[in-house]
Parts: sequence; C-alpha cells; structure tokens
Amino acid sequence: MCGIIGYVGKKNSVPYIIDGLKKLEYRGYDSAGISILQDGKLVTVRAVGKVAELEKAALLASPQGTTGIGHTRWATHGKPSEENSHPHTDCSGEIVVVHNGIIENYLVLRAKLISLGHKFKSETDTEVIAHLIEENLKHIRGNNEEERLVKAVQRTNKEIAGAFAYGVMWAHAPGLLIGVKNQSPLVIGLGKTESFLASDVPAFLQHTHKVVFLEEGEIALLRAGRVTVLDKTGAERTIKSVKISWDQKTAQKGGYPHFMLKEIYDQPQAIEDTLRTARADFGKILGLDTPALRGLQNVHITACGTAYHAGLVGKYYIEQFAGIPVSVDLASEYKYRTVPHKSKTLAIAISQSGETADTIGAVKKAKELGFRTLAICNVLGSTLTRLCDSTFFTHCGPEISVASTKAFTSQITAMYALAISLGLANGNVSKSSFDKLYRELMHLSKAMSEAVKMEYTVRHLTRKIYKADRFIFLGRHVHFPIALEGALKLKEVSYRSAEGFAAGEIKHGPISIIDKGTPVFMLMPQGPLFEKMLSACQECRARGAFVVAITTPDAEQQAKSVSDKVFLVPPVNEFLQPILMVVPLQFLAYWIAKRLGCDIDQPRNLAKSVTVE
Ligand code: F6R
Repeated sequence: MCGIIGYVGKKNSVPYIIDGLKKLEYRGYDSAGISILQDGKLVTVRAVGKVAELEKAALLASPQGTTGIGHTRWATHGKPSEENSHPHTDCSGEIVVVHNGIIENYLVLRAKLISLGHKFKSETDTEVIAHLIEENLKHIRGNNEEERLVKAVQRTNKEIAGAFAYGVMWAHAPGLLIGVKNQSPLVIGLGKTESFLASDVPAFLQHTHKVVFLEEGEIALLRAGRVTVLDKTGAERTIKSVKISWDQKTAQKGGYPHFMLKEIYDQPQAIEDTLRTARADFGKILGLDTPALRGLQNVHITACGTAYHAGLVGKYYIEQFAGIPVSVDLASEYKYRTVPHKSKTLAIAISQSGETADTIGAVKKAKELGFRTLAICNVLGSTLTRLCDSTFFTHCGPEISVASTKAFTSQITAMYALAISLGLANGNVSKSSFDKLYRELMHLSKAMSEAVKMEYTVRHLTRKIYKADRFIFLGRHVHFPIALEGALKLKEVSYRSAEGFAAGEIKHGPISIIDKGTPVFMLMPQGPLFEKMLSACQECRARGAFVVAITTPDAEQQAKSVSDKVFLVPPVNEFLQPILMVVPLQFLAYWIAKRLGCDIDQPRNLAKSVTVE
C-alpha cells in the first residue's frame, strides 16, 4: 500500500525524503514522487517505477528546501502513471497532498468541485483533497496563514469519507507540515531540530527512535523540532512519545519476526479494505448491466496454488447463492484442455500478483473462446488486470511473505461478495436474504480479529507435533479447499509432507497412510456435516492418529469426545466459516516451520510470483 514520508527541519529535506521512500519500498508501489518547498514555491518531481528512477529525476531537478513530502504509490484509483503519481496539487499548484487509503465519496466531491470551476489533472481520489482544501481556504479567516490552513484541513476532513491518512503542505505556510490520520497508518517521528511524518516507522528510524502514534481522527502539526497534535474535537492534546527499539528490518515487519506472521495478523484489516470495494455497485465492478448479469449461465474459475483453493471455495458460493454452474480449473490445466464454447460464460481468474504466467495464459484462452473475463487481483496495473475486461480488487496491501495468507482470505471474501451479488441480480437470492448475508459479511473483519487471537494455543500444540513425518488435513464441503490450503501452507514453509483430503474420501485410500501418532487436523465447525466429521475423527483415531478438531464453541464438547485437542474458532455463518477456519492452519504452518528453523518468508525453491510456465 502507499507510503508517505514528510520532513520539516533545518537541512535540505530531499535526501531525508528519498531515503525514507527507499525504506518504504517493502510496502509495494508502482510510482513515486516528492514535493519540496523551495523559495516559497513547490517543486514536484514524480516518476513511474522504482524510487531509483525518482532519485535520478530529482538529481536533475535538484530541488532544495527544508520542508518536503514524498510518496510511493500503490495504484487504487487510476492506472500507474506519472499523472496519477503523488504528490497532487490544487489548481494554483500551491497546495500539495500525499495520501494513503481510499476517499470513498471522491466521485461526488470531484463533480461538485468541477462545477465550482476546479480543474483536475489526474484520475485519483487523492486530488480531491488538494482541491477541497483550496476551496475551503477561500471561505476561512484566521490570524495567519498557518491557522487558516489548519482550519481548512479540519473542514476538509468533515467532508471526505473512507479510510485515509494524508500529508499536506501549502506554499503560504512554509515550515508547517500537516498530517491527518483516519483508519490508515500515520506515525510521527520527533528529532531534535526536525520532525517527520510517515506511513511506517522504518521511513525515519535512522534519524530518530522517538515516535508518536496518532489516534483515529487526529491531526498533527509538524514544525522543525516541534509537533502539536489536535484530537478529533480539534483540541490540542499532550503528546507522549514512545522509544522504538526495533532495528530497520524488524520495523518493516511491524515488529513481527517474519512477514508471514505480520500478514496473518493483517487479515482483519485486509478483509475490511477488500469489503470497501464490495460495497460498490457490482454491475460496475463486473462491467455488466443488470440484464447481462441476470443472463450469466456459466462461470469458469482459473487460478494457481493458494488462489486456486480460493476458487474452489468460490464454486460453493456461486452455485449456492447464484445457482450458476461453476467449473474450477488449475490455470495450467485449463490452458491445455478442451473447453467447450458456451455463450454467457464469465471466466474469473484469481491471482494475488496478477503476474502468474499460467493464470494469464488461461485468461488468454478464455478470451479466445469469447468469454467475458474478470480478475480478482491484488495488484492494480498488473498484467492480469490489464488483460481482463474488469477487475475486483482485493485491497489487502502488498503480500511479501512467499506463503500467501491475507491474499487468500481476501480472495474468498471477494468471492462471497460476488456470489451474493450475482444471486441478487439473477433473483436466486431474495432482497431480504441478500441483506442478511451482506450484514453477516460486514461483520467478518471483527470475527477475524478474534480468530487471530489463536496463535498462542496453536503455537503451544506445535511443540508436541512438529517432528512428525507427515500431517493430514480433512474437511468437507467449503472446508475441503481449506484442508488443501492447510496442507499446502505447511508444505511450503516447513518442507514437511502434508496432504489435504475431502473427509469423505479417506476410506477410499488415504486412510492407509495414517499411522500411530500421525497428526490429523479436522475442519469440523457445527453445521450440517458435523456428524459426518465426528465419524471421520473416530475412524482416524482408531488407526492411532493424533486428532486435532478445529470447531466452533457450540460443538466443543462433542469434538472433545473424539479428539486429542480442540481449537475453537469464532462462529460465523456456515459459508463464511472457512475464512476463519484457515487461520489456525496458517499459525500451525508458521510455528512448525519456526521450530524446524526454516526460512519462513522465503522458503527454498519458491518464488512469490511465478511468471514462467
Ligand atoms: C501459496 C502461494 C502460491 C500462489 C500461486 C499463485 O502460498 O503463494 O501457491 O498462490 O503461485 O500466485 P498468484 O496468486 O500471485 O497468482
């Protein structure tokens, strides 16, 4: 996700800002830019691609000034391009803004500002902030320009909706940098004669370890070596700084020892951010009008690895809620099998990176067959999103650990939102059922915050089983793909042998590999297939397996009677449940790999993005 850095001090801000942007590169980005206040004028330099490109451009322009802001952009509104790169300015070019997050009502605001005569230069939601501040300044009086700017920012914050953090500078208030935090990250660094604002601590850690964490809705006023914080009501609050003892690497991981662990904990936010897209009009996301949505007759899903498992869950959703037949293929298989041409087919490709060669190949084939194509993807501007007719973005932020975690749960969340919306459009789901399903979906992030509290319990168990030769995962229905995912995660990071099966299949072969002490993980929340899972537990136990039941609190007692250990996952509706059931399996993979001393974030032989066949 986007990275913000700001500096105000006594020295030339450019090296501080470029260096800060480099420290934020780990967040993922497609373009970068800086604005420096030089002799009362703003000098802006932007470049598509790496910070190194920006650095070259900045060397040529060689701006100099003691106040400046910089930004790395992870595109959300508008393609990656120089015009869409931050910083963005108002009409006069005297107000400059860098922003992270999403302004949900930007289209309405943009139209209003255009009607008032404002001229926009980019497609971004960010630019409305600069124009809105400009507009508000016209109507605000104050003792001086600094006071007017603060008031204009406060008024602007009342008008914009969404989760955002931004930094702003005005040529008429030199030496003042303003930071706003509302549900997106923004931290303040306190130096002796300088002050910093940034999306994350690593951006300025080299210069100061004294950090102020802002609360939601707060505004920070930064001057050289002096910071004031205004709370939600506009009152000044006493600031308390915290001394950060992290080194650079730990800081990038938010204090976690590995990106994988951080990303598991990112999941409540990732779901929340993904659902922000899902609140939009689905016809628009799919690029289809209502009659075309109603007329869809087939869905083909293609993906690889973890994303394929998300696709398997998606099949249950679309068939349940929209009543449309779905086929799910590994992208590498879809490409080379005969796919009969059928009209009114939507081909959905799921991919975190949007660069997986097999998935791209599958989409090319779907296009040749004349199917409409939809990407469920985490990277705007990626090859997949450019190839597909439309895209549903999973806004889960950059996933750095090779083993996918938050992208997976965001992809399933997106599939659920898509399925219920298709069902509403084609009449398979009534409006009242849709409203209920939708409400339940909107509570998912909260339930996920509970689910991630399971780490300690899982970690404790791994001490006992981490040396086992093989691990088995069993589930039925929507939990069958979760069993596959649990096994894949464990294999990837711990190099142990692990297999996932549909629980109903074990008698047809797999039960022969169960031996004394083999850990078997049963995905068995309370629900229509619970009794069947109880039988599967007994069958495995009779062969000496060490059975771990992963269930919901209402089934705890029954699960206990047939297992050696029970993990309790917060209950949600039966179709959302798999999104939470995978969490203990992610922790399991992590902790087994950790105890075995494996390279967790970069497992041997694996690449984050497989761009070759
Ligand atoms: C598993 C994993 C891989 C990817 C697969 C597809 O943890 O990361 O299996 O899921 O290579 O990658 P994307 O989603 O980028 O297409």
